[in-house]
Amino acid sequence: MAGSAVLLISLLSAVAPLPSEALNVRGHLLKSKTFRSPPILLGPGSVSNKYHHDVDFPRGHLAVKSFDAEVVDENGVPVPLHETYLHHWVAEPYYALKNSQSPDTQNLPKGMLKRNDGVCKTTLGQYFGLGSETRHTATWVPDPYGIEIGNEDKAPEGYEEKWLLNIHAIDTRGVVDKPSCTECKCDFYNVTIDEYGRTISKNYTGGLFCCYDQTQCRVKEGFNGEVRKLFLQYTVTWLDWTDAVVPVKIYIFDVTDTAMLDGTPEHSCKVEYQVEECSAENRANNECIHTKTARAALPRGGDIVFSVAHQHSGGVGASLHGQDGRLLCESLPTYGTGKEAGNEANYIVGMSTCYPKPGSIKVSDGEVLTIVSNYSSDRQHTGVMGLVYILVAEPQQPTPAPSLCFSFPVPWCLPAWMSSNM
Ligand SMILES: *[C@@H]1O[C@H](CO)[C@@H](O)[C@H](O)[C@H]1NC(C)=O
Ligand SMILES: *[C@@H]1O[C@H](CO)[C@@H](O)[C@H](O)[C@H]1NC(C)=O
Ligand SMILES: *[C@@H]1O[C@H](CO)[C@@H](O)[C@H](O)[C@H]1NC(C)=O
Repeated sequence: MAGSAVLLISLLSAVAPLPSEALNVRGHLLKSKTFRSPPILLGPGSVSNKYHHDVDFPRGHLAVKSFDAEVVDENGVPVPLHETYLHHWVAEPYYALKNSQSPDTQNLPKGMLKRNDGVCKTTLGQYFGLGSETRHTATWVPDPYGIEIGNEDKAPEGYEEKWLLNIHAIDTRGVVDKPSCTECKCDFYNVTIDEYGRTISKNYTGGLFCCYDQTQCRVKEGFNGEVRKLFLQYTVTWLDWTDAVVPVKIYIFDVTDTAMLDGTPEHSCKVEYQVEECSAENRANNECIHTKTARAALPRGGDIVFSVAHQHSGGVGASLHGQDGRLLCESLPTYGTGKEAGNEANYIVGMSTCYPKPGSIKVSDGEVLTIVSNYSSDRQHTGVMGLVYILVAEPQQPTPAPSLCFSFPVPWCLPAWMSSNM
């Protein structure tokens, strides 16, 4: 049973290109465990978008090295995207109040999200998250880096760290038009009022407001399909935390964040946007590419050690650039070519990632980065996304050089500044 298997793999067997990397991980055990989300119930055309609190996750003070996921059925068989479209999943730690029943804690919040390091203020606070590309997108955090979780010293008094999982899946078996359902076109869902009872503006033709939990996309007349019980199956690998692991910060940039271009102080990460079909003139010139750009300042600099973009079907690539225009990462989609899970035609089944040579891609405190997201505008696309996720290792405080000490003829030590030059 995969859910209970704990694999212990010695990192020593991994080929480390640098001696310092081998040193940093020497003797540490890479652990891995596979979990399943609570069940996702889906009938033809239906949508599930649920938030699951306190999901299974490795406990303790750890360095997370990867988080890989996919949708499976009750028998653990992978479900293809043309049956169940995985719109997105996100995993985020939060602080939960320990004694929520106690009278002393009545006025305290029951939970607080432990957001990533930025830069969006209200949305996109996750530590991990992907969509249809999840089966073939690397999430491995290279050595000697790790994402620190479960440090009790950092939890607010009276709170403990738990994990939240949001899974948005759309069952497209038997629907009238799969792309319209996966792009959440309001007409196909017959939705005019959003989840919170607000009237949806006429010019909003599609996106998350129209495919919330329990909405229903139009199904072909006479189509019958049973309700299925599915799961997000996710595998986490980690190391126990030690000083040899270099912590990384997580930043997510959103191409819809126009705050800097508009000159407004607050970030506004709208998450989704719309791509209009190209004009006849552009089409005649073979110029049906829609390019969207945004700028945002990186709060703290360091070395970029990993980077990946997230796009929806129609995406043709996204990139991140430094203030001087240099390319920090380009992430390109792979489209499937067949029917089987992991290779579904017309869907993005993977995004390429960037693993810069350690120390080769530096960004500075406050540097203004540019995010570029390209989509094909051969046809209109609604509810698309252009995110860039990066991991940044901040410059390490040099550890004070150990002083060289002697016990003869009397106990004495060389001052650190001298021994550090030896
Ligand atoms: C769409 O919604 C309207 C009003 O809510 C309802 O009268 C109509 O029957 C619905 N159409 C379909 C196809 O479900
Ligand atoms: C729709 O119109 C409103 C008001 O004119 C505008 O603020 C909004 O950006 C428009 N939305 C889209 C998706 O074009
Ligand atoms: C995005 O499109 C622009 C303009 O067509 C092009 O210069 C750039 O290389 C493209 N970038 C990616 C990542 O596809």
